[in-house]
Amino acid sequence: MSEFKEKIDKSRLPKHVAIIMDGNGRWAQERGYDRIFGHQNGVTSVRETTEAAAEIGIGYLTLYAFSTENWNRPQSEVDALMELLVDTIEKETPTLNKNNVRLEAIGDLNRMPGSASEKLKRCIKQTEKNTGLTLVLALSYSSRWEITNAVKNICKEVESGRLTIDEITDEVVSRHLTTQSIPDPDLMIRTSGEERISNFLLWQLAYTELYFTKVHWPAFRKENFFQAIYEFQQRERRFGK
Ligand code: FPP
Repeated sequence: MSEFKEKIDKSRLPKHVAIIMDGNGRWAQERGYDRIFGHQNGVTSVRETTEAAAEIGIGYLTLYAFSTENWNRPQSEVDALMELLVDTIEKETPTLNKNNVRLEAIGDLNRMPGSASEKLKRCIKQTEKNTGLTLVLALSYSSRWEITNAVKNICKEVESGRLTIDEITDEVVSRHLTTQSIPDPDLMIRTSGEERISNFLLWQLAYTELYFTKVHWPAFRKENFFQAIYEFQQRERRFGK
């Protein structure tokens, strides 16, 4: 029985929870294993967290699975991580469908190997009609890449006369981000004790509550997620007012 789950006020749930899944490498190395063993065990935490979010009725769960900076890791780790990501997504697609979970992805997906992005797009298509939790994977994502891209596209619209400079509002900027159809996160969780944003959703996190836990991602379980939600509900949000 979950202690924190019982204490959650279902009428005041965050609509969107975003997570920086950190500490896979350290978790594995502390146990004398290769870093990739940490990523493999991180899959269990992804499953647990997705289930937990669906159980209580969260609308959107975004997981930072691969940053543009991660392309600079040793090729063997990049390859293993890509394979693990895409294999997991493929394997879990029937379960996502069974649980009415819709899969989405944000990021520079063109940088992913062709086969990986093909598989990913297929899974997204297979779950597109689901109406429950939306699980958003940030893959080859970085916020500066996303904002730079938005600036370029807005400039093109101005150049072509479809938009004037005075018409550029913050809504216009939001509409040019990869998260255009996703509400801003209410809560951002980062595991493993690091207290940084690390190029994740810089625009979208403007009013988001930040929650840091020392637990490494592979050890993160439903109860840790419920605790974060509970603690979020103890805070007073004022949106600058
Ligand atoms: C951060 O730990 C984690 C990652 C870069 C990858 C996260 C990927 C998974 C959990 C795989 C499965 C995911 C899905 C969505 C199917 P780190 O390597 O930066 O750890 P460290 O900070 O201890 O080095």
